[in-house]
Amino acid sequence: MTFYVFSQLILNWYHFNGRKNLPWQKDKTLYKVWISEIMLQQTQVKTVIPYFKKFILKFPNLKFLTNSTLNDILYLWSGLGYYKRAKNIYKTSKIIQEKFNGKFPRNISDVLKLPGIGKSTAGAILSFTLNYSFSVLDGNVKRILIRYYGILGCSKNIKTEKKLWNIIKNITPIHNTGNFNQGIIDLGALICTNCNPKCEICPLKKNCVAYKEKAWNRYFLEKNKTIKLKKIYWFIILRFKYKIWMEQNNTKNIWNNLFCFPSFEKRKYAIEWLKKNKINFKKNKTINSFNHEFTHLKIQAKPIIIELLFQQKIINIQKTGIWYNLKKPQKIGLPKLVEKIITLLI
Ligand code: ADE
Ligand code: SF4
Repeated sequence: MTFYVFSQLILNWYHFNGRKNLPWQKDKTLYKVWISEIMLQQTQVKTVIPYFKKFILKFPNLKFLTNSTLNDILYLWSGLGYYKRAKNIYKTSKIIQEKFNGKFPRNISDVLKLPGIGKSTAGAILSFTLNYSFSVLDGNVKRILIRYYGILGCSKNIKTEKKLWNIIKNITPIHNTGNFNQGIIDLGALICTNCNPKCEICPLKKNCVAYKEKAWNRYFLEKNKTIKLKKIYWFIILRFKYKIWMEQNNTKNIWNNLFCFPSFEKRKYAIEWLKKNKINFKKNKTINSFNHEFTHLKIQAKPIIIELLFQQKIINIQKTGIWYNLKKPQKIGLPKLVEKIITLLI
């Protein structure tokens, strides 16, 4: 009975207040909803929208995507962060071509085997497009459940996670699952926000434990409390006229597969590299350093710009280097930090 009431309250609220015109909600296909859900995994709706639109313009359906290279995808992903997602999209497109005849699978166990898709994302894709009755449990949904049921303890704990899955499976309606899932996500994003939730206009307030206790701040999602590692990178920016030297990252770090200036953790390594390349670095120019924060890492980038007298050969064993043309940029994936520095060079 109470489960029924809960889902009805969400569905009614969704009917009048939910989001129905997001770009991935128009002419829904499994493909488009899949791309949007991957983008939304670690990124907010308003940031995702322009990236999603660009992506769909370039790759309107799976056929277009299947013919793409990883660099094509990374180019469109530049600045969005968590680049592993782009690689997973690339891998998935190949799996779909080889295993599923070029069609996005509709079977939950097939969907769950695709890289980058867990239970919640699979549930979102299949419920939003086909109205299949699978639950979604993302951060928005977790926050509502924790507050509504007054669940204390760390939300990252495996036991709590299991408990939340049990609850959401029980309250997810068999019919209208897509609207219910979108409704509860929207309620979490728009009403039951992390700070200062708008309880007074919340459809769940009557039975919400956090509301009754007037203590929404007792129930929240723990942020990662990991101490951020600090790193300094010396960037060598070799410039000849409108071209700058960049290399594709192939270490398993945050920028794997993206292009970056040659970077070094110590200034002396940067100097050694310059010497090896017979580059005169006396006439260099340093610009202000740039900071960039990741979930686990704080980066301070120290760019050193060197104007070359000719486009000389650079030692490049991995053969991943290119002369990036500022006037006619190649379509490659760039980290946000690198994009920022490049705008200063133009
Ligand atoms: N976050 C994850 N999926 C979402 C969706 N479909 N709409 C809005 N926010 C989301
Ligand atoms: Fe969240 Fe307040 Fe609604 Fe409870 S009443 S679910 S705390 S917005």
